[in-house]
Amino acid sequence: MKDIFFCPEESLFYSTCLDNLVLRNCQKCETIVEFGSGDGSPIINSLLRNPFNGVIHGFELNTSAWKVANSTIDEYNLSDKYVIYNSCLLESSKPEAEYLIANPPYLPAPDNDIYMPLLFGGIDGATVTNNLLSLNYENVLILVSSFSNPKSTIEHAKSIGYSVNSFLVLPLKFGYYSSEPKVKKHIEELRKKQIAFYSGEYYFLAGVFFKKQQECSIDLSNELTKVMTSV
Ligand SMILES: C[S@@+](CC[C@H](N)C(=O)[O-])C[C@H]1O[C@@H](n2cnc3c(N)ncnc32)[C@H](O)[C@@H]1O
Repeated sequence: MKDIFFCPEESLFYSTCLDNLVLRNCQKCETIVEFGSGDGSPIINSLLRNPFNGVIHGFELNTSAWKVANSTIDEYNLSDKYVIYNSCLLESSKPEAEYLIANPPYLPAPDNDIYMPLLFGGIDGATVTNNLLSLNYENVLILVSSFSNPKSTIEHAKSIGYSVNSFLVLPLKFGYYSSEPKVKKHIEELRKKQIAFYSGEYYFLAGVFFKKQQECSIDLSNELTKVMTSV
């Protein structure tokens, strides 16, 4: 289990965001794609407590996590609702879906030689997140960290036609992966350049629901920027 992402607080928050920002409003939705399913627990927990008649297609590169996820999916008889592929969404031909969801790798570091290389989010931490937004799904629920250049993500989303429809924020303590000395030191450097935002041992993790802009759609981009840079 050591090589599988383990942060119950964060996974629980992802699941709560999915319940409140997506599943509650998408009873008629048919297809959701997910980047980075991990051990599958956030989605499995959401499926167990929400009515959902579509299918979630998850992509997870870590084979151990993929195996654990599949065995839990079988245990709860959810294989008609949650299917996980041991591959990368960004390298597949883009599956059709109404929603893209992810708790993506967002650790900033000089390179991916860190405790868990699959959590590397690029030098500023926002690279994978911004690439996922560039896939241009109509609706995207993604977790955004205040120490991973959140302004670049909000600006990138806006530049390609997204508005921020809603968001939830959790103050989170630096954990096992973000406290790795190499990662923490890098985040401290990014903070001096106003790219990373945190206070003492805490940073903000936001579950952000981006929607392709329509006329008169709500846009909370400025509010989200204010919150994420205020920590
Ligand atoms: C922050 S963890 C989230 C895991 C799970 N969704 C959760 O919230 O508990 C990110 C996950 O993305 C996976 N991952 C990283 N790069 C990936 C890629 N290119 N394709 C598929 N999965 C990837 C990692 O192995 C890891 O399990």
